[in-house]
Amino acid sequence: MLTVVVGGFFGDEGKGKVAAYLALSKDYRYAVRTGAINAGHTVVYNGVTYRLRILSAAFVNKSAKLLVPPGALISLDLFVNEVNMLGVKGRVFVDYKTGVIEEIHVRREREDPVLKSIGSTFTGVGAAMADRVLRRLKLASDIPELKEYLADIPLMVNQALDSGEKVLVEGTQGTFLSLYHGTYPYVTSRDTTAPGILSEVGVGPKRVDHVVVVFKAYVTRVGAGPLEGEISPVEAERLGWLERATVTGRVRRVAPFNFELAKRAVMLNSATCIAITKLDALFPSAKHARSWSELPSEARKWIEKVEEELKVPVVLIGTGEEVLDMVDRSRDLGVDL
Ligand code: IMP
Ligand code: MG
Repeated sequence: MLTVVVGGFFGDEGKGKVAAYLALSKDYRYAVRTGAINAGHTVVYNGVTYRLRILSAAFVNKSAKLLVPPGALISLDLFVNEVNMLGVKGRVFVDYKTGVIEEIHVRREREDPVLKSIGSTFTGVGAAMADRVLRRLKLASDIPELKEYLADIPLMVNQALDSGEKVLVEGTQGTFLSLYHGTYPYVTSRDTTAPGILSEVGVGPKRVDHVVVVFKAYVTRVGAGPLEGEISPVEAERLGWLERATVTGRVRRVAPFNFELAKRAVMLNSATCIAITKLDALFPSAKHARSWSELPSEARKWIEKVEEELKVPVVLIGTGEEVLDMVDRSRDLGVDL
């Protein structure tokens, strides 16, 4: 079974938490994280906060193999640090064709006026992607230190699916940061939607069982670009919606939940399920709820409104930072995640 987790807004929707929850509670044994090191996914598990830039948040399931696909971009030092920090050596596999970002890419980006104007994270990802397009980027198979991790990830994933294993594909960033479908030029350097994610992994669309589009209960955006209904940082602080970016530490811009954007994200990704995170930010008494009946009735009504507008079931609802602070409606709704 193949499940894709994808961001519905501008990144930072809580994909890490959703991926970690699914891996743990539904026992996914294969987890592929796409994208690159500009994206930070945060997981809070047993009181410990992990900030991930390369490996899947599914690491919390100790039986999960953690795969880095050909379409991803890593940097050697971040990769080695992350493997050591998480203590996951032995279950990490990197594709021969995964791209490798080097110091030169970061340096080149820092001098680029366009990247300055859009508020890039300056992690070298765009420059490395450009080199890949120009066929001059180093791949994982060129780096001796990565030798012990190398594997054919598309083959691993497709064989796992053939033998009935559960595979989780964790996207990075969000639909409207997509190079093709986002708010160009205020976008990242890849297609962040479900089809783009699948292409990065090397698995075809017919193999997909679930596309879980993740929306936060409000919208945030880091860097420049349009953000409809944007509120001031002071107002965001008052509402408890002020956040800082995982990778750059910048204060995130904030707006209320946007139904029109959400509808378009559902369309672009062909969503089969929705996950809403941080519902407790809208309804404080929803905090730490772990069942539908524990949610206050106004929170349930809001979720029902989301379902009515988007015409897709809301299967997972985040109610706190911890991975297991989640209302899981999959059984009630008959969704076999
Ligand atoms: P770049 O891809 O690092 O050049 O950044 C391009 C734009 O995408 C900037 O506005 C970044 O803030 C934004 N961006 C890149 N990665 C992420 C992410 O993981 N979460 C949120 N925004 C991101
Ligand atoms: Mg993030």
